[in-house]
Amino acid sequence: MSMTAASQGAREGNLGRVAFLDAQNELPMLEVTTPWSTAELYLLGAHVTSFQKRDEPPLLFMSQCSRFVEGQPIRGGIPVIFPWFGPREGMPQHGYARIKSWELKELVHSPDGSVTVRFRFPQCPESLVFPPHTLEYAVTVKDTLKLQFSVTNDSAEEVFTFENCLHCYFQVSDVTAITVAGLKGVRYLDKVARFAEKMEQNDAIRIASEVDRIYLDTTDPIEIADPRLGRRILIEKEGSASTVVWNPWTDKSQQMPDFGNDEYSRMLCVESGNVAANEIRLAPGQTSSLVVNLATRTL
Ligand code: BG6
Repeated sequence: MSMTAASQGAREGNLGRVAFLDAQNELPMLEVTTPWSTAELYLLGAHVTSFQKRDEPPLLFMSQCSRFVEGQPIRGGIPVIFPWFGPREGMPQHGYARIKSWELKELVHSPDGSVTVRFRFPQCPESLVFPPHTLEYAVTVKDTLKLQFSVTNDSAEEVFTFENCLHCYFQVSDVTAITVAGLKGVRYLDKVARFAEKMEQNDAIRIASEVDRIYLDTTDPIEIADPRLGRRILIEKEGSASTVVWNPWTDKSQQMPDFGNDEYSRMLCVESGNVAANEIRLAPGQTSSLVVNLATRTL
């Protein structure tokens, strides 16, 4: 679909609407409006920067200091992490999918008013070192936000080994006032303690210092309870064995040039994917699908 045709074709009426805008730094962005919600999606990184239900505060945190530049990650929203998680020598942290522009493959307007935006990742020099593969990402905007990230190994004989992660930044009232449930009894790597292996003891995790944890072998949903906002955030996932919980707290916030010094207090990342020992080894001809559904309820 060409951008011009799509922008001329913005829908009206009961169906969801999509408008094309030149947004931050004139980067192309889709503004989606449905009967329940609004969302903003950049082609850069296939990045969802906003989702907001009517009469609710935004679901996603966005840094006021974020850069919007091809080749650099957007700080906030939902970065798409692929094909590796974390640092890799001589290569960009968290892979290249979040710092390159994706193609818009299709817009689907459902009769119920929901809108699905389908992206496809174009080949790039970095992707050519891996077995041939197809990378697609579908974002469905309705009363929930549904994310479907799929990788197909197009090789006839090679296994494709990769990590993936949908790195959701949630907006919260005050990070010290929320609880995170759903991880009790799960083994994790504590990145703040040099990757020490630990076991989560708490029914409800509280944040009172820097937190950077990779929870392994866990497929359970997560619930963030935010009493001051009167809101619960429900994170359900399929095709994901890892959950990452991250808050940079004070010192790390100051070290990040694209993040405000005090912004750590209004956000928490709960990321769903397959990282570290949960990396995916995808057989030839197979498709791996990571699905995350984000919903909110009153508390
Ligand atoms: C998290 C990692 O997923 O992302 C952290 O566990 C990292 O270690 C954070 O600091 C942010 O990464 P980046 O590359 O977006 O600054």
